[in-house]
Amino acid sequence: MLLFRTERPGDGDEIDEVVYAAFNRPAEADLVLALREQGAISISQVAEYEGAIIGHLTMSPVLIDGQDLGWLGLAPVSVWPDCQRQGVGSGMIKEAINSAHELDWAGLVVLGDVDFYGRFGFKPASNFGLRCPYPGAEAAFMALPFKKPVPTGLVTYHPVFDEL
Ligand SMILES: CC(C)(COP(=O)(O)OP(=O)(O)OC[C@H]1O[C@@H](n2cnc3c(N)ncnc32)[C@H](O)[C@@H]1OP(=O)(O)O)[C@@H](O)C(=O)NCCC(=O)NCCS
Repeated sequence: MLLFRTERPGDGDEIDEVVYAAFNRPAEADLVLALREQGAISISQVAEYEGAIIGHLTMSPVLIDGQDLGWLGLAPVSVWPDCQRQGVGSGMIKEAINSAHELDWAGLVVLGDVDFYGRFGFKPASNFGLRCPYPGAEAAFMALPFKKPVPTGLVTYHPVFDEL
């Protein structure tokens, strides 16, 4: 059975393997480790199939014009290569969005495929006046507000993202 749940103590090594395998390089796995070490993970969700972790996603606080307004950045999202394109990532993302909403966060941003993230309600961040911190990536920068009014300004991720 496939289930989605919050990360538990002791999951770290398996998560590390999934992130490494999904991206086929260490950078994103190192990013997750660094975020965890710095206490910067607000939501850490895993997908578990028959006791094995096959997917993982992280949400960490972002600032808007330097202010903490309760917004989170969704990244990275990882699914074990053999398990991709079977709905695992989508299921995990939907659950995590619901959790973020229920936990009273103000909204989410993501940098990624517009068609894919559009399925979950993300819209171009520029529609809301939210600006991307990475030059050239504006078209892939999306937002999903939970609360109104939606703030405007430059979004910045946790400093460990600068090492990616
Ligand atoms: C992106 C990812 C998290 C999606 O998870 P998934 O379980 O494979 O996705 P789902 O089965 O729920 O949804 C499939 C959709 O994901 C999108 N998708 C998956 N892999 C993709 C890829 N390599 N390129 C573009 N879109 C992709 C497509 O829209 C696909 O829809 P389709 O099958 O109708 O074409 C997963 O494929 C992955 O870990 N990829 C490698 C790491 C990565 O690129 N992460 C995202 C950046 S943070």
